[in-house]
Amino acid sequence: MLRQFSRRPEYAFANRIALYLTNDGEIDTSWLIKDVMARGKEVYLPVLHPLRKGHLTFIRYDQNTPMSTNRFGISEPDFRRGTRISARFMSLICLPLVAFDTRGNRLGMGGGFYDRTLAFMRNKGQKPSLAGCAYAFQEVPLLPAESWDIPLTLIVTDHQAKRLTS
Ligand SMILES: Nc1ncnc2c1ncn2[C@@H]1O[C@H](COP(=O)(O)OP(=O)(O)O)[C@@H](O)[C@H]1O
Ligand SMILES: [Mg+2]
Repeated sequence: MLRQFSRRPEYAFANRIALYLTNDGEIDTSWLIKDVMARGKEVYLPVLHPLRKGHLTFIRYDQNTPMSTNRFGISEPDFRRGTRISARFMSLICLPLVAFDTRGNRLGMGGGFYDRTLAFMRNKGQKPSLAGCAYAFQEVPLLPAESWDIPLTLIVTDHQAKRLTS
C-alpha cells in the first residue's frame, strides 16, 4: 500500500495526513506512518470527540504522543493532552474500509463516524482528499450509497491507487 501511495500527488504534496492505527484485520498502516514521518510531514490520528457525539477530531501523532484506549478498545491519542486539528484542515485523510466499490462508495464499521465528521464536504469539494485504504479483495461490485455517505477521492489498495471521478 505504501508503494501505491508513493505514486500519488495527493500523498506527495500533503503536509498534514490523517491515518489510523491498524485494528481488527484492517490493512496495515505502520509503514505508511513511518514513511509520512520520514518525509517530515505531520501525522494525525482520529479521536472520538468527547463532546460532539459521533464525531471525530484529529490529534497530532509521533513517538511521544500520550495515548489512551477509547470505548471501542482502540488506542487513540489522549484528547486532553494532544494538539487537536479538525478534519477541514487536513490535506489528506486515509480511511479504513470494510468494503468499497469502483465508484468510491465506502462501507465502514457502521458507526458513521467519518460520514458525520466529513459532512461539511458535501457542499464544498476539494480539501481534504479522502483515500480509502483496503485490500484489493475488499472490492465489491456496487454498494448502496445513502444520502449521508461521503464518497472517496481515492482508493488505495495493496495492488493499486486509483483516483475516482465524481
Ligand atoms: N452526517 C450525518 N448526520 C447524522 N447521522 C449520520 C450522518 N452520517 C452518518 N450518520 C448515521 O450513522 C449511521 C451509520 O452510517 P453508515 O454510513 O451506515 O456507517 P459507515 O459509514 O461506518 O459504514 C447511519 O445510521 C446514519 O444515520
Ligand atoms: Mg457510511
